[in-house]
Amino acid sequence: MENIDWKKLGFGYRDTDYNVRCYYKDGEWGELEVSTSATINLHMAATALHYGQEAFEGLKAFKGKDGKVRIFRMDENAKRMQNSCDGILMAKLPIEKFTAAVRLAVEKNIDFVPPYDSGASLYIRPLLIGSGPQIGVKPANEFLFVVFVMPVGPYFPQGFVPTNLVIYREYDRAAPQGTGKYKVGGNYAASMYEGQLAKHEGFSAVLYLDSREKKYIDECGPANFFGIKNNTYITPKSESILPSITNKSLMTLAEEMGLKVEQRKIPYEELADFNEVGACGTAAVISPIKGVYDSDNDKWFKYGEEPGDWSIKLYNKLRAIQYGDEPDKYGWVEIIE
Ligand SMILES: Cc1ncc(COP(=O)(O)O)c(C=O)c1O
Repeated sequence: MENIDWKKLGFGYRDTDYNVRCYYKDGEWGELEVSTSATINLHMAATALHYGQEAFEGLKAFKGKDGKVRIFRMDENAKRMQNSCDGILMAKLPIEKFTAAVRLAVEKNIDFVPPYDSGASLYIRPLLIGSGPQIGVKPANEFLFVVFVMPVGPYFPQGFVPTNLVIYREYDRAAPQGTGKYKVGGNYAASMYEGQLAKHEGFSAVLYLDSREKKYIDECGPANFFGIKNNTYITPKSESILPSITNKSLMTLAEEMGLKVEQRKIPYEELADFNEVGACGTAAVISPIKGVYDSDNDKWFKYGEEPGDWSIKLYNKLRAIQYGDEPDKYGWVEIIE
């Protein structure tokens, strides 16, 4: 293993030593296999390539002060991948297969889990693809599940820095009753154009409004949205957003810390009322938002240059559980010895 400067890691692909694979063939999932190759041998007519029959997940493992490695809520990722399988007709991966593969991928690459004081972590990417050939539009009858991992740097190397979001009404990430609630590649392909546009225009991500009416807040690029006002943590209820595991965890912690929690439709106009706004997801936990620019109406909603108190408290609390600095009272963490 090469020497890694843990403090200089960004969020990007990096080779590690092993990945774990499992094949579905003749109606059943096989045994887990450990591979040292970063490439896969894929049929040119695989449904993943032609019809986007593929789903993925993203989760992390953290090394604590005690040197132990903790994987955060992988059962939730396993369940979400099962939903994706149901959503796009892929062979459903058993929960235990998913968690065993994740555990094995972390164990085999344990030397790549960054040390506690670096603030970095091990990103885990499970991927499930239709590998069997089809030329008509129909589901594959063979599938490949792979788990690979890589060390990634802290999302905020210079500290917790608020950024701006932008609303563009002419782009949708997902249809109102489409695949937005599944973690499937098609949603990400559909969001790349406006995602890049937002970056070029100096914003960190697109804040999507609901695709049907453009009246309610959906989500922010690859993260869920939340706003805080009147001691209440408010996050969108929508059929077309990905149910974020970070958001689910923050809702539990917000309640524990004394906030009310509301999961409901959030009208666009309510952007004017929040004291704090954030994007949440595995990559950053919380990415504080200092402003939302409505590009169609040339209108700004501003929340201050510094992260809000609740955002800081929630961020610190969740990170403390992930790194093992606080007791894991909800059973969110699995320790790999
Ligand atoms: C579209 C989208 N929304 C929300 C999230 C946040 O989900 P999680 O907290 O499970 O990482 C992600 C990914 O991480 C995402 O891709």
